[in-house]
Amino acid sequence: MAFEREKENAATAAIEFVEDGMTLGLGTGSTAKFFVEALADEIADGLVVRGVPTSEETRRLAESLGVPLVPVEQVDRIHLTVDGADEVDDQAQLIKGGGAALLREKIIANASDLMIVIADPSKQVEVLGSFPLPVEVTPFGFTITAKKVYDALKTSGVSRPRIDVRRGSGDKPLVTDGGNYILDCACSVIPDPAYAAELLSVIPGVVEHGLFIGLARTVIIGSDDGASIFE
Ligand code: 5RP
Repeated sequence: MAFEREKENAATAAIEFVEDGMTLGLGTGSTAKFFVEALADEIADGLVVRGVPTSEETRRLAESLGVPLVPVEQVDRIHLTVDGADEVDDQAQLIKGGGAALLREKIIANASDLMIVIADPSKQVEVLGSFPLPVEVTPFGFTITAKKVYDALKTSGVSRPRIDVRRGSGDKPLVTDGGNYILDCACSVIPDPAYAAELLSVIPGVVEHGLFIGLARTVIIGSDDGASIFE
């Protein structure tokens, strides 16, 4: 599969930031999976950490690999979260949610002392927006919410947003771990991500959106033979 080696090298580089005794936010997706696997190897070699998964998918993976987990309600500090991204710009602004886990991912990232993004080079962009922006909404009133999301994106400077409800099995709306729907908002370009984030956040029915602004401080981009770290 494309970019597998780059993803794995980014994930391996992130292991260098992990220290004994840490509580770790464990991201979701194919790149974060490499991190959880690398972490499991370190744990087998004696590293003592515990994880807080950002999705049921990651919970199952971590459990299957013997990574100790702690219920999020019992955590008072998360030292480090390592997660992937759908897009990252040169200010470490992100689009996330391609794996429909953006709500838990953002709660955990926001509660962490440090969020590290691990990604292959295809995720680096000059301007966010080519990847459709995921917005998690309550099922109740989601068509009304979708219109408000459209208006907010227009107001923020997106010229022609197009909004689709993400489909799951049987062409029914996909339901997230939190019991919500995802609106995928094709924007092409999001000229002012911080403003768009501000406008989306105040819409009733929007549970969370996939713009991660000011959350990631370190970005690790994997390559064929290593990784580059941006801080
Ligand atoms: C899940 C996410 C993922 O981090 C994002 O979709 C990147 O996934 P991958 O590493 O598989 O490309 O935000 O909600």
